[in-house]
Order: sequence, then C-alpha cells, then structure tokens
Amino acid sequence: MLVGLDIGRQFVKAVLLEKSKAGYKILETAIRPVSDPNKAYDPEQIKKPLWVMAIRELFRDLKLKPARVRGVTSGINSGNVSIKQISTMEMPTDELYSAMTFEARKHIPMDGTEAVIDFQIMGANDKEVDKIDVALVACTKKTLSQHIDILKESGLRPGKVDADPVALSNAFFVTRDLPEEGAIVILDIGTLGTTLIVRGGSDPFFTRDIPIGSHHFIREIADKQSVNYLTAQDKLYQSGVEAVRVKENEGGNISVAERTVFDNLVEDIRRSLRYYAKTNNQSFFLKIFLSGGGAATGGLAEYIQEKLNVEVAVFNPLESFPGYEADTMLNPNQYAVATGLALRGGLEA
Ligand SMILES: Nc1ncnc2c1ncn2[C@@H]1O[C@H](COP(=O)(O)OP(=O)(O)OP(=O)(O)O)[C@@H](O)[C@H]1O
Ligand SMILES: [Mg+2]
Repeated sequence: MLVGLDIGRQFVKAVLLEKSKAGYKILETAIRPVSDPNKAYDPEQIKKPLWVMAIRELFRDLKLKPARVRGVTSGINSGNVSIKQISTMEMPTDELYSAMTFEARKHIPMDGTEAVIDFQIMGANDKEVDKIDVALVACTKKTLSQHIDILKESGLRPGKVDADPVALSNAFFVTRDLPEEGAIVILDIGTLGTTLIVRGGSDPFFTRDIPIGSHHFIREIADKQSVNYLTAQDKLYQSGVEAVRVKENEGGNISVAERTVFDNLVEDIRRSLRYYAKTNNQSFFLKIFLSGGGAATGGLAEYIQEKLNVEVAVFNPLESFPGYEADTMLNPNQYAVATGLALRGGLEA
C-alpha cells in the first residue's frame, strides 16, 4: 500500500494506492480540516498541535493505526523548497549524491542555514547522449525537522519526504503524456499559495511559489463587500470570480474595473511564464492545468484562459485510476498533491 499524505495549511489529505502489475488502484482517500471549519480561517493560528490532531483524525477515518502504517510519503510545501533542474553525467547513485551536494551550492540560493538535499532523476538529456536531467531539491534542516516532528507526533514512522512541486509533476507524468513540443503548466491553488510548475517533454522543469490562494480570494470578497469571512467564503463557493465584482455592478460603475486578487494571480503567472520563456527559449505553453481546492473557484479557469490566451483545464489525477468514486468527494482537485506523493512511493524502491 502506498500512502500519500499532503499536510496542507487548511486541510490534510491522504490518498491510498495499491500498485500491481496492472497499474495503480485507489484504495481510499480522506480529508480533514486543520482548523475549525465553522470559524474564519486564520493562518496565524495554524501550529503544530492542530496538524497533529488533524492527521490523527485522518488516520482514524481511514481505520489505520499510524504506528502500523508503512510507506507514507509526505511533502514539503513549495514555499519551503528550492528546486532546480540540472544536467549531469550519468553516474552511480552515491556518486550522484555527492555531486548533487556540490551542485546545490552553486544553483540553489539558501538563506545561510544548513541545507538538506534530495534529487529525482527526470530522464535522459535530449541534447547530450551521456547526460541525465536531475531535479535538485533542497530545503533547510529546520524545515525538514519541523515536518518530521509533525509526522512523529502524529504517531507515524516518517517515510519518504518529497516536495509538493515534484509530487504534482509526478502526478501529471504518471497520468498524462507530456507533449513532445512545448510545455504544460500546472497551477495548484491552495489556501495560502499557488504552486506553479512548468514541464515539457524536452524542456526543463520549473517551479515557483505564488503567495496567493483561496484565503486571499475570500479576504478580498470580505473586504470589498463588508461581510464576514464565512459569508465571503460562501459567496466564493457560490459565485466564484464574480463574487469580487458584485459591488461594482450594484453601483452601476462597471466601466472602471478595479484590479482584483484574480488579476494579481494572473499577473504573477504571466511574470513566471515570461521568465521561463526568457531563460529557456521556450514560449510555447500548450495548456494550463488547475488543481488544489481553489481550482473549484467558479469561472477561474475561464478567466485565466481569457487573460493569458492559453487553454485552461482542471487537473484531477485521481480520475485516471480504477477505484475512483467521484461522488464521494466534494472537491477532488484537492487531492492532486496527495496523489503525486503516493505515486512517488511507487516510483522507486
Ligand atoms: N468551491 C470552492 N470554490 C473556491 N474555493 C474553494 C472551494 N472549495 C474549497 N475551496 C478552497 O480551497 C482551499 C483548500 O484547498 P487545498 O486543500 O488545496 O489547500 P491546502 O493544501 O490546505 O493549502 P496550501 O496548499 O496553501 O497549504 C480553501 O482555502 C478553500 O476555501
Ligand atoms: Mg496544498
């Protein structure tokens, strides 16, 4: 059994997969809010004990004893990791590890504290025969130990620790075909941030953390319409992107459109893609895929599509596997990271 555990900032999610010769099968999924869903979400309140409690409840729902579970893969949030794709000579794993530690110093900017590194081999390099592409992943020791503490206090034996952007990329790679030409973009819209990923058949992996998520959508609705957080949340769930515009329409002043949080999100996406295009000589973005809880925001896919002129679709990797039961889930997009984490467990020995 492969267990993917996504410790999000508002919801913890788990995906249980079984791997056999026939492929992957979904055994179970589960979700738990980290804080009281009947109260306004407050990022300041989210501390270790709340995550621990939510994870324990999650495993209770799954009827699993944390201490008995093996094969848990969890993920570090994209805001806390640096990832860079590099090309290197093919070499044995232990040599690769020391080579990567050396490379990390050159490529990954760190805040001065000690770094922990990991890497995932992405495949053969297209241009040079004897080279391979490696995603170099680094985070600080402090980030990793805080993460491990949550797992341990929840009663779990820490297993593999992956990075959320790598998990999302794997979820895509396993369930869909990468284009030969051009790149695809994944946007995982969570509560406090959006993870942007660019991946192509022959173009390097790129990721960026955009500090805008559903919490900011809700806050803006609450501010603009002078309603409380929970009312604003209902409005977002009901009216999507239109919820921030209602006041303009009511006032009859639709000509001077105010800049909204959705425009800020689009602008950050545009900037990231422009940077990618410049540094990689690739400006052909085939399609944008949305995941994360915020992907359910009504009209958001259409809005991004119109502004960026790239086709936008929703990305739900779970639907590719047998055992998927759409009607048991409120918001299936929320499980993309957890699915990718579970898959990571099956990708290597
Ligand atoms: N129908 C909906 N429309 C808009 N937003 C929604 C909807 N349903 C859920 N959300 C939002 O999705 C968010 C939760 O998504 P998700 O579980 O992906 O976040 P997370 O992983 O906990 O957060 P983060 O990735 O920032 O750590 C919440 O902020 C919630 O308000
Ligand atoms: Mg998340």
